Amino acid sequence: MSLDARGDVAVVIPAAGAGVRLGPGAPKALRLLDGEPLLVHAVRRAAAATSVRMIVVAAPPADVDAVRTLLTPVAPVTVVPGGAERQDSVSAALAAVPDDIGIVLVHDAARCLAPSDLFERVAATVRDGAGAVIPTLPVVDTIKEVDAGERVLGTVDRSVLRAVQTPQGFDAALLRAAHAAAADSHTDDAGAVEKIGHHVICVPGSDLALKITRPIDLAVATHLLTLASPG
Ligand code: C5P
Repeated sequence: MSLDARGDVAVVIPAAGAGVRLGPGAPKALRLLDGEPLLVHAVRRAAAATSVRMIVVAAPPADVDAVRTLLTPVAPVTVVPGGAERQDSVSAALAAVPDDIGIVLVHDAARCLAPSDLFERVAATVRDGAGAVIPTLPVVDTIKEVDAGERVLGTVDRSVLRAVQTPQGFDAALLRAAHAAAADSHTDDAGAVEKIGHHVICVPGSDLALKITRPIDLAVATHLLTLASPG
């Protein structure tokens, strides 16, 4: 399969994390879901989005060759060594995206069931002129603010809160500028864009884009794969 003749989007997938919260074992992106690594599920869905021209994966440095071999039958993918923090892995992958690609989607391998239409929804909103776009869901739990002793300080108004997913979409130049300016750490790329004073726009996320972090998330994702169209 060739992605080159298609659209205006590069997908960057940081996949270099250890995944310690899942328990001992392989790097998280290489843990198996229904017999295949999470990263394979993620790349397959990204490659199925028709506006995606290029996919860059940041792999654990020791596993770059193995990840390249793993992904070759799935889709054409550029694999680079990741870094110590997630943002280092994103920066390393971003450096491999050519300047003529105008839209970059940053997607965690851990959200491996995020469906192709979510990639398209985010990219379309960037294409329509939003510089930075994040998929979000409403917060369903009541949220409390607590002190160091776990004493409740107050209840947060959840109607103004959103749970944030990936893929997050950016004008490529804006994302490069945000990464270049990032002095301290950020847990998502939109955070870096916010810090340089640019608006970030929310679009509806997907229940399928859950983040696989704990063992129970793997069990939920395994069940989701048995549904009729899990992405
Ligand atoms: O650790 P966390 O679940 O927040 O990681 C989110 C994503 O960032 C995962 O896909 C993980 O593989 C990736 N990551 C990375 N490089 C790191 C740490 C995390 O690519 N150093």
